[in-house]
Amino acid sequence: MKKFIIGSILSVLLLTIGIGIQQGLLFAKPLPYDDEQKGLDTQITIHLSHVVAENTPKGLAANKFAELVEEKTDGEVKVHVYPNASFYNDENEFKALQNGDVEMIIPTFSKMTTYLPKWQVLDLPYLFNTDEEVHDVLTGSIGEQLLAELEPYQVKGLGFWHNGFKHLTSADLPIHTFENLQGLRVRTMPSKTLEKQFETVGAIPVPISFSEVFSDLEKHAIEAQENTASNIYSKGFYKVQQHMTLTKHGILGYSVLMNEKFWQSLPSKIQKQITEAMKETTDWQFEQAVLMNEKDLRKLQQLDNFEIYKMSAKERARFKEKLVPVYDYYYANVDDEKILEQIQKIVSP
Ligand code: SIN
Repeated sequence: MKKFIIGSILSVLLLTIGIGIQQGLLFAKPLPYDDEQKGLDTQITIHLSHVVAENTPKGLAANKFAELVEEKTDGEVKVHVYPNASFYNDENEFKALQNGDVEMIIPTFSKMTTYLPKWQVLDLPYLFNTDEEVHDVLTGSIGEQLLAELEPYQVKGLGFWHNGFKHLTSADLPIHTFENLQGLRVRTMPSKTLEKQFETVGAIPVPISFSEVFSDLEKHAIEAQENTASNIYSKGFYKVQQHMTLTKHGILGYSVLMNEKFWQSLPSKIQKQITEAMKETTDWQFEQAVLMNEKDLRKLQQLDNFEIYKMSAKERARFKEKLVPVYDYYYANVDDEKILEQIQKIVSP
């Protein structure tokens, strides 16, 4: 009887140890490191939506910013980047940002002029001559004044990024003089100043979203458009346009925006780290944008069935002169509080 009791106790003990080992309760090893699981309870996620390809000045900078934020916050903040209008597009991204459906977007400043008329100053033709001038204006006190305009919209402006100078592309006929634009349906970003620019030379401005440009060019719903070499190359506009004229008549750049309520909800240590990441990305971004546009222009120059022309100095001067009424339009319609005057002190005439 005694043997039976001891045997039963031993069997129960062995069974318990066996189950414990099988379930990993005894001699359990620590869980393997899993980045996805790290600090899940404290991790902050930023969804960042933009409308261009990843291999563009904005796409690369968005990825660089995501990397730097993660690095500086030691993984506490994760930035998920959604390129190519895969999350929100030109038409709905600002509302989504205001509603807090997305934490960050990077629209062109031209697209923001619907809300912020003063930003039209950056769309004025032939205002800037060099990338350095653009850098000085957008990253200095003028940039800060422009970002302050966002306040009533509950949006935090983290800064401005650059893409480059815009040129013209066209189907059928090349644009050697501004007269060649007469009667053409030209796509613009939604900015009254950009529309005025094309009206002034007798073209028909057609404001449409970036994601529709390729198909509208393909269908000949529009016959020409203005953009940077990097956007023309990465979006394949050269497949549906045969001519490009290097006019360098305006700039294309970006505002980096965050939902204000989300920004305010972040601990001040994280706000500081994000600000540092933004500053570092911006310095890097301005250099990369210039290099990328040069590289993509070289790629465009090597293509068959795509001709590139430089507008002659004489025609450029005529084009610039013809566009002077756009400045009159701007003065008459925008209460700019001397922002243009301040920019003109920085840029060469
Ligand atoms: C972009 O670079 O974000 C798009 C520019 C455009 O709409 O032409």
